[in-house]
Amino acid sequence: MVLNIQETRIVEFLSSIKKNISCFCEDNNVILKVSHSFKDKDCNYFDAFRIEEMLLNIVSNSLKYTKQDDEILLESFIKNNLLVFKVSDTGKGFKSQTDMIFNKYYKENENTSHKNSSGLGLYICKLIAEKHNGNINAYNNAQGGATVEFSIPTDNICNRTAIYSANKN
Ligand SMILES: Nc1ncnc2c1ncn2[C@@H]1O[C@H](COP(=O)(O)OP(=O)(O)O)[C@@H](O)[C@H]1O
Ligand SMILES: [Mg+2]
Repeated sequence: MVLNIQETRIVEFLSSIKKNISCFCEDNNVILKVSHSFKDKDCNYFDAFRIEEMLLNIVSNSLKYTKQDDEILLESFIKNNLLVFKVSDTGKGFKSQTDMIFNKYYKENENTSHKNSSGLGLYICKLIAEKHNGNINAYNNAQGGATVEFSIPTDNICNRTAIYSANKN
């Protein structure tokens, strides 16, 4: 897998995620809530196409377990020099050890009746996170639902204003 790393404005990226992924949620009457406190100009280097693919995989898992009119929450923030994306749902949560769920073809329920279940989604997410020198983990949240969280380094985080003014000199 070769990444196409580009300087990406985080706020713009998150609103395009909301726009692109919300339509899948609306089919199920589920709301995708996006929460962050970035400024418009905050950016980081990552492969926006691949990170969107990860978020789509994670949110579509959540959608399988989220009841109509419930909410899936996507939060993004900086913690310990990492850019974190965190998806939480109100579904049934994981029943097994969550380190297994990133294995290739792993499904918690082998005879799952869900179509669109290959056991590949989170495996691919892990590959993409690792390609970015990041990592991914999953756990059950306080509401009993699932949370999947991944992070990538912010060594490259920058502010466009700073870059532009630096270029003028
Ligand atoms: N949001 C979630 N809530 C509960 N279980 C989940 C969630 N996301 C993933 N899982 C469990 O982890 C397994 C692996 O997920 P994934 O790799 O995306 O495969 P699948 O093709 O089954 O969606 C799923 O089969 C499911 O058992
Ligand atoms: Mg999946």
